[in-house]
Amino acid sequence: MGNFCGGVGTNKVENSLSYQQETSGIANVHNRNTYYSALSSPKLLANFEEKVIRSPPPPRSEGDILSSPNLKAFTLTDLQNATRNFRPDNLIGEGGFGDVYKGWIDEQTLGAASSSQGMVVAVKKLNPEGFQGHQEWLSEVNYLGQLHHPNLVKLIGYCLDGENRLLVYEYMPKGSLENHLFRRGAQPLSWALRIKVAIGAARGLSFLHDSEQQVIYRDFKASNILLDSEFNAKLSDFGLAKAGPTGDRSHVSTRVLGTQGYAAPEYIATGRLTARCDVYSFGVVLLELLTGRRALDKTRVGLEQSLVDWAKPYLGDRRKLFRIMDTKLQGEYPQRGAFMVALLALHCISEAKLRPPMAEVLATLEELPATTKLGNSPSQSEQQITSDLTFGSPFRDNERSPTHVTPVGSPFPLHMNSPAYMDTRGSPLPSHMNSPHLKILEG
Ligand SMILES: Nc1ncnc2c1ncn2[C@@H]1O[C@H](COP(=O)(O)OP(=O)(O)OP(=O)(O)O)[C@@H](O)[C@H]1O
Ligand SMILES: [Mg+2]
Repeated sequence: MGNFCGGVGTNKVENSLSYQQETSGIANVHNRNTYYSALSSPKLLANFEEKVIRSPPPPRSEGDILSSPNLKAFTLTDLQNATRNFRPDNLIGEGGFGDVYKGWIDEQTLGAASSSQGMVVAVKKLNPEGFQGHQEWLSEVNYLGQLHHPNLVKLIGYCLDGENRLLVYEYMPKGSLENHLFRRGAQPLSWALRIKVAIGAARGLSFLHDSEQQVIYRDFKASNILLDSEFNAKLSDFGLAKAGPTGDRSHVSTRVLGTQGYAAPEYIATGRLTARCDVYSFGVVLLELLTGRRALDKTRVGLEQSLVDWAKPYLGDRRKLFRIMDTKLQGEYPQRGAFMVALLALHCISEAKLRPPMAEVLATLEELPATTKLGNSPSQSEQQITSDLTFGSPFRDNERSPTHVTPVGSPFPLHMNSPAYMDTRGSPLPSHMNSPHLKILEG
């Protein structure tokens, strides 16, 4: 699925940075835990936090990015040898950046190896005719050269040789979530695997959002969730990633980039990017996991083209949910767990200020297996989601209000009583659902 570069009205152009400006200030990223573990005194910690939060890290130069000690600089010849000269047999995928080939390198020397002995890698080759270019390539090298986490794909190295731009990753044997959910003839994913994938992807996003210098991923979608042999999910493609706001700023203003169907409506409308935009995209992927339908499906008619528009009226009603569940699951899913995921998805795609932070999304998903074994009373997470939707308290990042309590004796699900969540037969839809931009962005 391709990215779009939106041009959705003059107000957005005013808010936008030029592409060069946007991508040249490539950020330095540090994981919060790395720093915290080095600090013992609370006072020091406070001073440190203040310093880091108030002053954005200086942008890294291209030289700094490319000299990352974690990455190997390959020559074009190395990668020609590794992929048998980009043999069509070794083609494993193609995307907006270019073609992706399977290759083999020696685990110790990282030189080319025979297919029987070497370590398997995925080699992504920039298509010079494509929409993406040097900046996306550099952004990928920058972020994946610095960020390491079990739920982010590992970048082994890169190649910069004349006009050629390539990236070398660990090979993910099960390919992308997109292929498993939508490819014709694919073995259907069980409910348990869908939840496993959602948890892995949520861990990856939480890690990015909670890094000392927050990273907004900006292109969260099924094709960017890669799976290892045990279906552990890893995020790939940091070409559009962006450093989050620093200091008192609530957002970063950018050109609208992302993928149709996944991008948050307020971002499309204003160019204002926040971590909550990723939460929206995560909600869309949860809907894909529940329904087995694509975020945007041009082969369908009218409202059904947009998964969000189509699924939304069913998500908050336990009795209606089965109507939109993926038939490939053949009813093999726990009703209670599915309803919790549906409520969570509804929460994620709600108005920006009502969306939960990724850490909370992750906690809810991690609670699922235990929840499904319980009886019929709503679990803590279920109550939390419901009460958030009902009362609409804006969250503060990583902070829950102790006043978020579910009123005793309220009919479940409560959020269906909220004006903000009633469907068109009742009260107005949440404001973003009325945004024309979701419908305008086509083609
Ligand atoms: N590290 C990897 N291991 C195994 N397969 C991979 C790897 N990276 C990419 N692929 C395969 O190549 C396909 C294309 O990936 P790519 O990221 O280039 O494009 P995309 O995500 O489909 O689209 P977009 O360009 O919009 O991100 C993936 O869907 C996946 O099947
Ligand atoms: Mg991709």
